[in-house]
Amino acid sequence: MKKNTLEQLSSFIYNRFTHDATGHDYYHMKRVAITGKRLALQEGADPVVCEIAGWLHDVMDPKLTDDPDRERQVIIDLLRSMYVSSEVQDQIFIAMENVSFKTGHQVPTSLEGRIVQDADRLDAMGAIGVARAFAYGGAKGQAIHNETSEKTTIQHFYEKLLTLQSLLNTDSARKIGQQRHDFLKCYLDQFYEEWECKN
Ligand code: ADP
Ligand code: NI
Repeated sequence: MKKNTLEQLSSFIYNRFTHDATGHDYYHMKRVAITGKRLALQEGADPVVCEIAGWLHDVMDPKLTDDPDRERQVIIDLLRSMYVSSEVQDQIFIAMENVSFKTGHQVPTSLEGRIVQDADRLDAMGAIGVARAFAYGGAKGQAIHNETSEKTTIQHFYEKLLTLQSLLNTDSARKIGQQRHDFLKCYLDQFYEEWECKN
C-alpha cells in the first residue's frame, strides 16, 4: 500500500478511536491491520484487502456507533478518496462482515474475512488479550472476580477467551494463537494462586 494511503487510513482511525477505553482503541485497529496483512501473505490471500479491512473492521460495529449505515458511507467516501477501486472496496466490505465474535461464531465467506477475523481474535488472546479484557471490564464497571454468579472479567476468560484458539480459521493464526492460549491458562493459574494467597 502507498505510504500516503496508509497515513490517511491511520490518521482517520487515530481520530476515531484514540479516546476509546474499552479495548477498541487505535492500537487494536493497527495490530489487526498488521497481523491481517502478515497472515494474508502466509495464507495466499490479498494483503491490501486484509490490511485495509483490519484498520476499518470495528468502524461499523453497532457496539461502537449508533449509526452503522452512516459509518458505511464514511468508509466508502474515505476509500474513494484513497483511490481504492470499487471492486477492492467490495472485497473490503465482504472481509469485514461477520468478523465480530458476537455475531454467533459465523465464518466469513471470503478468505480475507476469515483472516481479519483471526487477526481480531488473536488480539483478544495472550498478554494483550488480558489487558483488553480488564480494560473492558473496568470501563463497564464489571468486577475482576468474585465467588457469586455475577458476571466478572475472569468469567469472560472461560466464556470467550479460552474458546478462541479452537475458533481460529487458518493454520497460520493457529500457530500464533497456541502460545497466546497457553499464556491465558498460565495467567489464570497464577491469578488463582495469588487470589487464594497461596504464595
Ligand atoms: P469483537 O472484537 O468481536 O468486537 P468484543 O467487543 O466482544 O469483540 O471484545 C472486544 C474486547 O473486549 C476483547 O478483548 C474482549 O475480550 C473484551 N471483552 C468483551 N466483552 C467482555 C466482557 N464481558 N468482559 C471482559 N472483557 C470483554
Ligand atoms: Ni476488533
